[in-house]
Amino acid sequence: MFESIKGKKVLITGASSGIGAETAKLFASYGAHVGIHYNRNEENAIKLQKDIEDTGGSADVLAGDLLEESTRSDLIQSFIDAFGSIDVLINNAGGVIGNMPFLELDEMSWRDTMALNATAPFFLSRDAFLFMKDNGGGRIINISSISAKYGGSMNTMHYGAAKAALETLTKGFAKAGAPHNILVNCIRGGVIDTPLHSRIERNSPAMEKRISLIPLKRMGKPVDIARLALFLASEAGDFITGEVFTVAGGD
Ligand SMILES: NC(=O)c1ccc[n+]([C@@H]2O[C@H](COP(=O)([O-])OP(=O)(O)OC[C@H]3O[C@@H](n4cnc5c(N)ncnc54)[C@H](OP(=O)(O)O)[C@@H]3O)[C@@H](O)[C@H]2O)c1
Repeated sequence: MFESIKGKKVLITGASSGIGAETAKLFASYGAHVGIHYNRNEENAIKLQKDIEDTGGSADVLAGDLLEESTRSDLIQSFIDAFGSIDVLINNAGGVIGNMPFLELDEMSWRDTMALNATAPFFLSRDAFLFMKDNGGGRIINISSISAKYGGSMNTMHYGAAKAALETLTKGFAKAGAPHNILVNCIRGGVIDTPLHSRIERNSPAMEKRISLIPLKRMGKPVDIARLALFLASEAGDFITGEVFTVAGGD
């Protein structure tokens, strides 16, 4: 199982931390050539590259702020220039910009949250699609959030809306990709234990209450998401496209 991952060229956005970093490690351990994209955390990205190489894997790093139009338009080509092609794109970079009550939300936070979680995946997917359709196909995997299901919290309504847009893009790209063997799916993560949740937030009574509402009564681990991404990118996912899979402990 997962033998088809060997030699695949895989770009993972936001791989300097949390879910993206774990996904990079897992794909590399199955023989993929991994593109570790990062924005600010160069140190972590380079350490991850080294860890992967030390265990016999292959990885390279690529930088870029996905709030910048130039990054959104250049990243896929930069990856192809460095790796020779692209087989799998994992749109993982994301997060909440402007964690504040919706009654106080400013337009900039709305725009940036949309840019990071929906606009960037759209333009990266489009560029990957253009390449993949002339190269026998490929896989695109989008990382959404349970907030798309619940409408986010009172502080993250804009984030939930951006992730809902990402889920809709999954359906659209899956339809466009099917005739070209480009399979597009989405993983909707529940509450996952990563640096996205600050240490203070992680130990807060609000978080305790949130976890108590999860049927499995715990936060997920980054690898819980990474394993499904590996499954979808491999031969196990050969007949799966246009789906949104929830990995959220029953939430
Ligand atoms: N943790 C959760 O509970 C949870 C649940 C559901 C879905 N998700 C989703 O899972 C994905 C990964 O989240 P995570 O929990 O692993 O978060 P994380 O540990 O905070 O990692 C976020 C990653 O996104 C990158 N990033 C942030 N802003 C960026 C920007 N402007 N341009 C380019 N890259 C940027 C970061 O890069 P640098 O650090 O290098 O700046 C980092 O690599 C996100 O899409 C998130 O919405 C998370």
